[in-house]
Amino acid sequence: MSALFTPFKLKDVTLRNRIAVPPMCQYQANDGFVNEWHQVHYAGIARGGAGLVIVEATAVSPEGRITPGCAGLWNDAQVEGMAHIATRIKAAGAVPGIQIGHAGRKASANRPWEGDDHIPSDAPYGWDTIAPSAIAYGHSLPKVPKEMTLDDIARVKADFVAAAKRALAAGFEWLELHFAHGYLGQSFFSKHSNKRTDQYGGDFAGRSRFLLETLAAVREVWPQNLPLTARFGVLEYDGNDEETLAESIELVRQMRARGLDMLSVSVGFTIAETSIPWGPAFLGDIAKRVRNEAGLPVASAWGFDGPQLAENAVAGEQLDLVMVGRAHLADPHYPLQAAKELGVEKPTWVLPAPYAHWLERYRMAR
Ligand SMILES: Cc1cc2nc3c(=O)[nH]c(=O)nc-3n(C[C@H](O)[C@H](O)[C@H](O)COP(=O)(O)O)c2cc1C
Repeated sequence: MSALFTPFKLKDVTLRNRIAVPPMCQYQANDGFVNEWHQVHYAGIARGGAGLVIVEATAVSPEGRITPGCAGLWNDAQVEGMAHIATRIKAAGAVPGIQIGHAGRKASANRPWEGDDHIPSDAPYGWDTIAPSAIAYGHSLPKVPKEMTLDDIARVKADFVAAAKRALAAGFEWLELHFAHGYLGQSFFSKHSNKRTDQYGGDFAGRSRFLLETLAAVREVWPQNLPLTARFGVLEYDGNDEETLAESIELVRQMRARGLDMLSVSVGFTIAETSIPWGPAFLGDIAKRVRNEAGLPVASAWGFDGPQLAENAVAGEQLDLVMVGRAHLADPHYPLQAAKELGVEKPTWVLPAPYAHWLERYRMAR
């Protein structure tokens, strides 16, 4: 019996297995509106057999987009396209999830294949960025952000709440707050990017405040019976990891007390000068520690796509859910291939009946 292919229940939502597609930006939206590409992409991936498909980082305001091609839910007109995506993911047998976020000082960048660097504010399609402090990320993202006023902070929290309501209206059943990867939430928490002297900076409580308040505000509008999760970088690999990890675990405990149902464990990516030990499943033991010490289910990504690695991560209680990203881009039927490789009997059961029946009948899935 495979642990990876057992269902997973969180609140009133049950996933058909422990494989999830993490959010992956497509950079194909126009003014935040998703289009036919997104419909094809998400329907195809969901049909492949994953239990959960999380739609890409979706901006809560225009200035919160990473690139001009990022999806958005900052106005009601954007709900319709997202609703089609949610319906299609569901029709394919997966649970539709979505990640909402604000890119902070990493916003206003060119698409990865067009440079991944900051667009000057005065160039067409460029815009000014905001962040906890007026400190640039540096390197290819040199733009100095405006330090957010208390009004800016209140507005962005309200933007998260409004986007969460729209995500619910669109039919998503799983919400992930993007507090990772050096974007706005992460940059409030990190001492590298938050040098504020008011109540949103300084000590642990100050640097946690934006994340906790945003989470609590979203929890008020996101139904109690549906999972509310977050993605958060619990360490930076900057040489200060024990201290950061201890603080992060305390933050996750406090998030759990405010209604967080699960954490997607990731890396902070707040600074470029790091020594990340890239390698298969390198976050496995870190995730397990967060799971045990913060006391909530966890997911993680980054190199868990080897089926046996993914299986071991669930069986070894490192992860409750395994996020498999790029392998799904290479093969939307990754879950079928993983089931075959793990020797799951009748691997086609991960597929919708109209596929599974014929593959079984003609013994094409052996
Ligand atoms: C094309 C692409 C877009 C991504 N966009 C996002 C995103 O929107 N939000 C996010 O949290 N991570 C994003 N990521 C990171 C992935 O969610 C995932 O963590 C990463 O691909 C590592 O997992 P993997 O080794 O299984 O690919 C992206 C990754 C890729 C390849």
